[in-house]
Amino acid sequence: MNYGRFSDDGREFLVTDVRTPSPWINYLTNGRYFATISANGGGISYDRSPLHGRITRYRINDVPPDRPGKYIYVKDRDSGEIWSLTWQPVGREPAAAYRVAHGFGYTRAEAEVAGIASSVLFFVPIDDDRKIWKAVLTNTSTRVRRLSVFGYVEFALGHALVDLINQCDDQHFNRVHFDEGLGALFATKTYWVTETRGTQQQENKEWDRWAYFTVNRPVAAYETVRERFIGPFRNETDPAALGSGLSSKDMDCGNAVGALQVDLEFGPGESRDVIFSLGVIPKPEFDRLKQPSVEKYRDPAAVDAALARVREEWERFLGHTRAATPDGEADVFMNFWTPYQAKVAFDVGRVASFYYWGIGRGFGYRDTAQDTIAISIAEPRRARDRVLLLARQMRRDGNVYHHFYGDGQGEFTRHCDDPLWFILAVTEYIKETGDFGLLDAVEPFLDGEEGSVLEHLLAVVRFAGANLGPHGLPVFGRGDWNDTLDYIGGKDGGESVWGGMFYVAMLNRLLELFEFLMIAGRHDGGLELRDRLVEALEKFAWDGEWYIRAFGEGEKKIGSSGNRYGKIFVNSQSWAVIAGLPDRTRLVRAMDSVAGHLDTPYGPKICAPAFREIDPTIGLITRCARGKKENGAVFCHPAAWVVQAECLLGRGDRAFGYFKKLLPDRVDSDIFVAEPYVYSQYITSDEHETAGRASHSWQTGTAAWMFRVSFDHILGIRPSYEGLVVDPVIPRAWKAFKAERAFRGTRYLIEVENPDGVGSGVRSILADGRPVRGSVLPRPDGAVCRVLVTMGAAEGS
Ligand code: GLC
Repeated sequence: MNYGRFSDDGREFLVTDVRTPSPWINYLTNGRYFATISANGGGISYDRSPLHGRITRYRINDVPPDRPGKYIYVKDRDSGEIWSLTWQPVGREPAAAYRVAHGFGYTRAEAEVAGIASSVLFFVPIDDDRKIWKAVLTNTSTRVRRLSVFGYVEFALGHALVDLINQCDDQHFNRVHFDEGLGALFATKTYWVTETRGTQQQENKEWDRWAYFTVNRPVAAYETVRERFIGPFRNETDPAALGSGLSSKDMDCGNAVGALQVDLEFGPGESRDVIFSLGVIPKPEFDRLKQPSVEKYRDPAAVDAALARVREEWERFLGHTRAATPDGEADVFMNFWTPYQAKVAFDVGRVASFYYWGIGRGFGYRDTAQDTIAISIAEPRRARDRVLLLARQMRRDGNVYHHFYGDGQGEFTRHCDDPLWFILAVTEYIKETGDFGLLDAVEPFLDGEEGSVLEHLLAVVRFAGANLGPHGLPVFGRGDWNDTLDYIGGKDGGESVWGGMFYVAMLNRLLELFEFLMIAGRHDGGLELRDRLVEALEKFAWDGEWYIRAFGEGEKKIGSSGNRYGKIFVNSQSWAVIAGLPDRTRLVRAMDSVAGHLDTPYGPKICAPAFREIDPTIGLITRCARGKKENGAVFCHPAAWVVQAECLLGRGDRAFGYFKKLLPDRVDSDIFVAEPYVYSQYITSDEHETAGRASHSWQTGTAAWMFRVSFDHILGIRPSYEGLVVDPVIPRAWKAFKAERAFRGTRYLIEVENPDGVGSGVRSILADGRPVRGSVLPRPDGAVCRVLVTMGAAEGS
């Protein structure tokens, strides 16, 4: 990590060299109002939806890649010197004068330039839909300083895609005016498209929000039009208006921007705060909210109190789990950055980053289901709402939208796995909370009528039963978890072996729930279906050293030793274990094949060898560069399942070995490129010249899975219907570890001892001093339960 490091307590990532190889960003959000911010001030803001509620623009594929952003320029009115309070956009040297700290829900940018020390704090308050940028400037020189400080944003105002593809016409509807009395700019658009696709459709309505931009000091001048601020043949690095002055004119056509100038004069050793806010007010509430909103955070004490609440909220969220293992590096991720990333992915719905621009696709069905598993611990209410949202994306036949927008719009694609993820979301939520009442909650189907969540689950079983091919395995359709195996067996043919394992794993979960509820007979054929799938997998899918991945047209095998490319795929090994297929010898051999054929210095690859020839009967994977994305990269999300599978086999050293390799801070940042504090979607494999390069950071299901797999399967502390289970699978070298886990109102303080240096197996458990039979912890009388676990061979064995 040559550009930064974690703070000593692990709660901040300190960017010590802001010339990062890609934008190293953070997310600031209260779940309604969202902002991204790079270490160089770049990033977007949106309200609720990055597509429909876009406040600021992202100029796609721009260079540098994080422009525009939320910038604060400073001009010394005596010397004429100009700089920005983040290194970019002015880019004044030396860059070493700038440092940035990304924390949970805030980012702090510090600089020492031209005798002015500055610190800018960016965050979104919990109960206020705005982004605050609180700058404090301190005069470290020996003379009185006369500075002008300019806050600057470029607006999009409404539908982000229409803004991009139809700007020439769209700009005629932009309006920005300055409210003299309030000292604030107000911006909106007089028409608004609410269609999800890029369309020229002209809906007969206006954007339903006002964006505002304000500052806590008298405004000396303002600007509203980009061309007037930047000037011709320039960019944000050297805006013309910083020399010639701001026009202080309103705008009713053009590229809308907000720039506010305040003038300061202060002596040596003195400090001044300049607090900008960029926010939104819904139009129906404009008259009532305008004044209080604009004026609320003019007092620095109010800002500090709002930040304290953000910090408290994150401590609360992250405090539900805590690990103290012999591996401090792993602890920083398990305790802080991985659950933090998972919560961000849940809030953002995976749709907005510098890789995903928030304009193309809504929520992925399976992505959303997986995101809920990370937050059900600390945010059960929001997890429940999300589960019910998923229920509403289902037809009576059990099929679901592949992606959806939450407003009834979405797309059916016939991916064979999508509906089954609903079972994961429901069962994981109930295991965590014990809220079996969820099963009775009633939600509509997309094609009319309504049903309870239980009825939705049974619809999924019917979908699974009606979706089988000639080998009795799931018909591939347009793909399974792997979106790029999209033409296996032609348009709608082929069969997914992984899909078969996944169906088994999900049916197992459902049957376990029904058994616990003693409604075992109500599975609508789920039990027989599960058994038939297991039989088909064992009969047709074993290749000798591993399980194949799919059947294509005419018995063609994909993921078989007889193939030239894509001989082995990771998911059909890890999920054979997760599905609990009966032949342990095969399972061990399959996972050994993963170690032998797929492991790299960066973690296990998704498949190998990567495809080097286009095969239209397989699909997109074969068209992708080798070693990248699904075509043979270390895809981090399925790599989490490899860790889980090794734990399920009881092989702690191997499981932790994979886990450790995959930590995002393991590779030199000049090679890794992406942020070292969060998981990326994939790391380029050794089959490509850019081996080790990570891409698509932040918005990946890896975070949710790694968080859960590390707690549930490595530390072994996981929820079950009966109670909290402890069953660690750890490196044999660990002599002990401690963990804390909040569960259904109790805080379990768990100490695990490993005197014999085993990798798995529990000899005895004491809960509040009393012996526990089995591995399920009792519900204690008090709010705290102290648990002592001794690993080793079970007593009497
Ligand atoms: C992307 C998609 C996810 C899919 C994966 C593999 O991460 O968001 O839904 O499962 O790619 O193709």
